[in-house]
Amino acid sequence: MSVISTRKEGDVLVVISNNPPVNALGHAVRAGLADALTQAANDSAIKAVVIRCDGRTFFAGADITEFGRPMQGPSLPEVVDQIEASKKPVVAAIHGTALGGGLEVALGCHYRVAVPSAKLGLPEVKLGILPGAGGTQRLPRVVGVEAALPIIVTGDPIGAKQAQSIGLLDKLVGEPSLEADAIAFAREISTRGEHPIASQRTDKIAEAVRDPEVFDRFRREHARKLKGFEAPEACIQAVKAAVDLPFAEGIKKERELFLKLVTGDQSRALRHVFFAERAAAKIDDIPADTPVIEIKKVGVLGAGTMGGGITMNFLSAGIPVTIVEREQAALDRGVAIIKKNYEATAKKGRLTEEQVAKAVSLLTPSLSYDDLADCDLVIEAVFENMDIKKDVFKKLDGIVKQGAILASNTSYLNVDEIASVTKRPQAVIGLHFFSPANVMRLLEIVRGAKTAPDVLKTSMELSKKIGKIAVVSGVCPGFIGNRMLSQRQREANKLILEGAKPWDVDRALVSFGFPMGPFQMSDLAGLDIGWSKETSKGETIRDVLCERDRRGQKTGKGFYDYDENRRPSPSPEVEQVIADFIAKSGKQQRQVSDQEILERLLYPMVNEGAKILDEKMAQRASDIDIVWLNGYGWPTYTGGPMFWADTVGLEKVASALEGYGLEVASSLKAKAGAGQKFN
Ligand code: 3HC
Ligand code: NAI
Repeated sequence: MSVISTRKEGDVLVVISNNPPVNALGHAVRAGLADALTQAANDSAIKAVVIRCDGRTFFAGADITEFGRPMQGPSLPEVVDQIEASKKPVVAAIHGTALGGGLEVALGCHYRVAVPSAKLGLPEVKLGILPGAGGTQRLPRVVGVEAALPIIVTGDPIGAKQAQSIGLLDKLVGEPSLEADAIAFAREISTRGEHPIASQRTDKIAEAVRDPEVFDRFRREHARKLKGFEAPEACIQAVKAAVDLPFAEGIKKERELFLKLVTGDQSRALRHVFFAERAAAKIDDIPADTPVIEIKKVGVLGAGTMGGGITMNFLSAGIPVTIVEREQAALDRGVAIIKKNYEATAKKGRLTEEQVAKAVSLLTPSLSYDDLADCDLVIEAVFENMDIKKDVFKKLDGIVKQGAILASNTSYLNVDEIASVTKRPQAVIGLHFFSPANVMRLLEIVRGAKTAPDVLKTSMELSKKIGKIAVVSGVCPGFIGNRMLSQRQREANKLILEGAKPWDVDRALVSFGFPMGPFQMSDLAGLDIGWSKETSKGETIRDVLCERDRRGQKTGKGFYDYDENRRPSPSPEVEQVIADFIAKSGKQQRQVSDQEILERLLYPMVNEGAKILDEKMAQRASDIDIVWLNGYGWPTYTGGPMFWADTVGLEKVASALEGYGLEVASSLKAKAGAGQKFN
C-alpha cells in the first residue's frame, strides 16, 4: 500500500500520509504528495485539498536517514513549491508535531489548522543544518522576523496557541474532529477569490526592513548558548536574506547555506547525536515483553547535595517521595534547599506557584527508615563509603517491601558488593545521577551482575518520566563517565608538573568547547573532597594547596585567585608551588603546546572508552558519547569522544597514545590498524 492515500469528501480531496512512526518525508511520501496534488489539479470536481497524517503525528521532518545519500526526486523544496502553486487552496491539518520539513510543507499550504496540543517547529539547527525547503524564507514572511528568529535559530518548537497568536496557524480545531473540521474549513475558504501565498507576502517582513538591527540584537542575546555551533549563524544569514532579497534569490541563499552545512563535520556529528540518544534507550538483551514495576512512591536516603536534587526529579514528575536523614538538622537543611530551589524556579517564571505547592506537598521528610517500607523504589545517596553503604543496604533489605527496587547513587563503588549484603541482589541497581541532580540530563544506570531485567527496564522507563537520558553501564570503578574522567584528571595533573600552567590546560579545553577545564572544575567542586588535614602528607599539589587553605572558590582561592565577584585570575602562589614541586623532582619545565594539551587530555579518554567497550561495560560506542555530552559538557557539535576520535582518525589517536607511552586498548589498536571507526 502506498504511504500516501487520497479520499474525496465531496469537493474536498483529503490527502493522508501513513508512514510510521513519525511520517518522515522520505522519497515515497514526497512522490505520493506530488501525485496527490496532480490528481487534485486534474479533477474539476475538487475545489480544495486537505493534507493530514495518520498515526501519532503530522510530518515530523525530512527523513534524516536519507541525508548524506543521493536524493531521489521529487525533492522536498519541489513538493512544497508544487503545493504553494496549486490553484486549489491547500489546508494543512496538524496534530502531534509539525517539525522541520513538516512545517515547511505546512508553510507551502495556503492555510494551516491544528489541534490545541500540536507543536510546531524548525529543529533543523539541532541537526547542524537549516530548514532547507523554504522554511527560512517563508516563516519570516508569515510571522515576521522577530518571531521567526527564535524558532529557526534555537530550534525549539512552539505550542499551537502561540502559533496562532503569531499568525502561523489560521485556526485551532477540535482534537477528535481534526479531519472533519479541516474539511469544513477548506470548504469555507474555497469560495474566496484569493488565497495567501507565503512566498509572495512582504507585509510581515516590513518591520525588519525598517529595523535591520534585529539580527545583531538576536546574536548578542543568544551568543553564549550558540557559541561554537556553525548552523545558528547560517540560520540568521538565511533569515536576513528573506528580508534583503526577493524570494527566489533568498531560496538560492538558503540552498547554498544548507548544502554547505549538511556536508560538514558538525552536522554529521549532530545527526550522530540524534540517533545515539535514541539508541541509548535500547538494551539489547532485555526481551520486549519484560514487565515494568509500577513506581508509585519513591524513597530517598540522605538529604545532602545529591539526595535533594534526586528528590526534586520525582516530585516534579508528580511522584511522592519520602526522604530520610539520620539527624533532624540535616533533614531540615535538605528540605529547605529543595523548597528554595523550587521557589527560585518559580521566580524565573518556569513554574507556577501552584506547581511548586503541588511538588512540595508530595514530599514527606522523616528520620525513620521504617517510613521507606512501602516505597516501590528507594535511592540511597549517603556518604561515599562502602561500609556505610553496606550498613544502609542491610537495613533497607530488612525494611523495604519485596518487589521494590533498591538503588545506589554511588559515583565509584562496586554495586555488586553493595548488593551482596542483601538477600535480594536481583533488586539492586545503580542509579547514578549527576550534580545538580535536578538539572543535569544524564542518568547512568549501573547494571549489577544479578540485576533483574524488570528492575533494569523499569529504571530505563522511569528515567524518561523524570526527563533524563539514561545510559546503561556495567560495574567498574567510576562506571563510564567518571572512569574516563579519571584519565583526563591524571594527565592534567601530570601536565602541570611538566610545565603547562593550570590556566593553559583549562584554556585549551575551553577553546575545544568544554564549559570549563579540569582545574576550574576542581576549584568549583572544592579541592578538599576526600582530603583531610589530619592525614595530609603534602605529597601532591592538591595537598599543599589545601594545607594553605586554597580549597577552591568557597575559600576565595584554589588553583586560581578569586575576586569578590568570583572572577578568577592566575595565582602566582600556585605557580610557585608547582615550580617547587618540579624543582624537587629534578626535572626541567618545558613549553607545552595547546595541541599537546588536547591530545594528552582527550586521547587517553578515548582509549579508556575503548577499554570500556572491550570489557563490555558499555553497550555501544555511541552510549559513551551520550554520557560525555550530557554529563560532562563535552561539546555537542563534535559528537562526543568516540565520534570525535573517528573524525580525528583512530590511527592518529593510537599512534599518539603510543608516543605518550600509554598502553593502547585492543579494540582501538585493531580498528586503527584496519582503518575502521567506532561508529
Ligand atoms: N527521520 C528519520 N527518522 C526519524 C525522524 C526523522 N525526521 N524523526 C524520528 N525518527 C525515528 C527515530 O529515530 C525513532 O526511530 P527508532 O524507533 O528506530 O529509534 C523513531 O522515529 C521514533 O522517534 P522518537 O523515539 O524520537 O519518538 P518520540 O515520540 O519521542 O519523538 C519526535 C517524536 C518529536 C518527532 C522526534 O522523533 C523528533 O524530534 N524527530 C526529529 C524531528 C526533526 O529533527 N525534524 C527535522 C528533520 S530535518 C529536516 O526536516 C530538513 C528539512 O528542512 C529539509
Ligand atoms: P552529602 O554529604 O552532601 O550528603 C550525604 C547525606 O547523607 C548527608 O546529609 C548525611 O547526613 C546523610 N547520611 C549519611 N549517612 C546516612 C545514613 N546512614 N542514613 C541517612 N542519611 C545519611 O553527599 P552527596 O554529595 O550528596 O553524595 C551522596 C552520594 O552521591 C555519594 O555516594 C556520592 O558519591 C554520590 N554522588 C555525588 C555527586 C556529587 O557531585 N556530589 C555526584 C554523583 C554521585
